[in-house]
Amino acid sequence: MNKRLILSLLLFTYSAVASASEVELNREKIPTDRASILRGADHVINGCVSCHAIKYIRYNELLALGVDSATVDSWRASNPVTSRILAQMPPESAAAAFGGIVPPDLSLMAIARDGGEHYLYSYLMGYYVNDKGETQNRIYPGTRMPDILAISTTTDVKQRTEISTRAKEMTAFLNWASDPHAAERKQLGIYVIAYLLLLTVLLYLWKVQIWRRLEQK
Ligand code: HEC
Repeated sequence: MNKRLILSLLLFTYSAVASASEVELNREKIPTDRASILRGADHVINGCVSCHAIKYIRYNELLALGVDSATVDSWRASNPVTSRILAQMPPESAAAAFGGIVPPDLSLMAIARDGGEHYLYSYLMGYYVNDKGETQNRIYPGTRMPDILAISTTTDVKQRTEISTRAKEMTAFLNWASDPHAAERKQLGIYVIAYLLLLTVLLYLWKVQIWRRLEQK
């Protein structure tokens, strides 16, 4: 057998094993519109910040996102508007409550795990009740986080759809949080390209003029 054949056989076996051990993620589309992101901000601040920090985001960035100031004021309570979004539960109490595990910071969670936003959405929706009557998560078996959205005990189709929408909006907000300046950067990119195009035209005209003078001599 030649070397290349052995190598491709090895690669094939490896990829077969790797994909067999991975859990199938739900890859439904996560919204990117501003209204969904804003609703997601509301769900996350009210449903997740009791345990999780979003420490790379400051309250005033939520103002820039478009949350109205009365709402931001109620969210930040006595914290200054420039302060980072920290968990309401102190880390020591969280560790005591969750068997030594402090709920991880959510700022970069939308890009932190393999599968990115799809991981996040699938994890939130991944709770179910197993044969023994225990709540489990198919994405992260044994996770210490409770089923916050109550998806494992909701059987009504309409309610399940509502929970799914909520989870998508939460994911949309955490996508924004993982790169809050993406929109500005894209807009700046358009200006940069317009500038470069204009510059190209000017330089071309300049070149034509120089060559005309040279040809006249
Ligand atoms: C009651 C406290 C609590 C609340 C509320 C809570 N979480 Fe968690 N969360 C935890 C704990 C504890 C962990 C650590 C789980 C572990 O590693 O066993 C965790 C872990 C996570 C993880 C990481 C999973 C991984 O792969 O490591 C994500 C993502 C997450 N939470 C998202 C959320 C979102 C989004 C919300 C709001 C809907 C939320 N959590 C609300 C306690 C909480």
